[in-house]
Amino acid sequence: MRRSVPMLLAALAVMMAGCEKKTQPASTETDTSKQAAQGQGGTAPATPPAGTPTGEADTILLGVATSLTGGQATFGVSTRNGIEMALKEANEAGGVKGKKVAMRVYDNQGKPEEAAQAVTRLITQDKVVMVLGDVASSNSLAMAEKAQAAGVPMITPSSTNPSVTEKGEYIFRICFIDPFQGYVMAKFAREHLKVSKVAVLQDNKSAYSIGLTDVFTRKFTEMGGRITSTESYSQGDTDYRAQLTAIKKSQPEAIYVPGYYSEVGVIARQARELGLKVPLLGGDGWDSEKLYELGGSAIQGSYFSNHYSPANPEERIQKFVADYKAAYGGVPDALAALAYDAARVAIEALKKAPDTSGKALRDAIAQTKDFPGIAGVITLDENRNAVKPAVVLEVGDGTTKYVTTVNP
Ligand code: PHE
Repeated sequence: MRRSVPMLLAALAVMMAGCEKKTQPASTETDTSKQAAQGQGGTAPATPPAGTPTGEADTILLGVATSLTGGQATFGVSTRNGIEMALKEANEAGGVKGKKVAMRVYDNQGKPEEAAQAVTRLITQDKVVMVLGDVASSNSLAMAEKAQAAGVPMITPSSTNPSVTEKGEYIFRICFIDPFQGYVMAKFAREHLKVSKVAVLQDNKSAYSIGLTDVFTRKFTEMGGRITSTESYSQGDTDYRAQLTAIKKSQPEAIYVPGYYSEVGVIARQARELGLKVPLLGGDGWDSEKLYELGGSAIQGSYFSNHYSPANPEERIQKFVADYKAAYGGVPDALAALAYDAARVAIEALKKAPDTSGKALRDAIAQTKDFPGIAGVITLDENRNAVKPAVVLEVGDGTTKYVTTVNP
């Protein structure tokens, strides 16, 4: 396979939570042959940062594979930050079983093949006891396959496609699933916006987008609405005018675009340029600061379903928002909140489990019940999914406004 420059620059990041100095230059670890040449099975960077506890007996290592670069980069950065924050807090509070908890992070560039490889490396070389990640469901599906086969538990903080946890009994998620999320927007469109004609524009490269299109279409129709047209694009496309022109002809009152922010921002602009003035509706994949940048005023007044609202006045949520801002300098999005929650669920399981074997950790995670997450209370059901309410947010000027909460 040909390796691109951005891939060489960014395929790997190693971070130890709670350490002052975070990482060696990412580029030095991108070449697997170089890693093997270290003769250490890749358990440590060539020059470990001072105080790096990797591989030492006093450390429990968690593996993270997420999209730090590419079209879903903000997802990965927020995810890494959220996990890092939870590990730091746990370590400051004395760690787990007398040990520090650390993480090793690999960038999957938003690509399923890279995601699968990253998990294999985390498990076979780094010997992590658990895997956290990813955001985009297509990546998590590829990762889950590997984690399940190896008997290493994996918790996805934010992948909502139902198939992810169907990969097997070692795969968990702490967020709601898309059959619920699709229902939430269908209900919102019918009951809140009171529209009866909606067009759909889906990303045919994303398991998440295909799944949501399906559920939304079914639910909206059941509720007496009509889908005026269904169009699709492929992640990374930049010209959506043909699809939007077809959609315009079908005269919808809103357009459901269950994609990711990089494409949705551009779609919003092109829709307005073509004279399509109706609101766009979407799902959690819109959640990124970049959406406001890319979409500008074209995306304002549109709505999406999400996992939490940073405007929630509850004290512990405002404390999380303030702590996160202080550490990373921005309002935490849902990815940051869910990643923080997932890491805390992982730590709780590490504390409860008699040992750190895959089986013991799996059983401990499965027992997660009434766990007070930032993005809702987490109780895992028999299918290893969480059942939680969703919020609907309206896109404003560089921010979101809370509109309503929909309970399962
Ligand atoms: N739910 C999306 C997916 O499964 C990922 C996502 C979650 C994106 C939350 C943004 C916020 O692909």
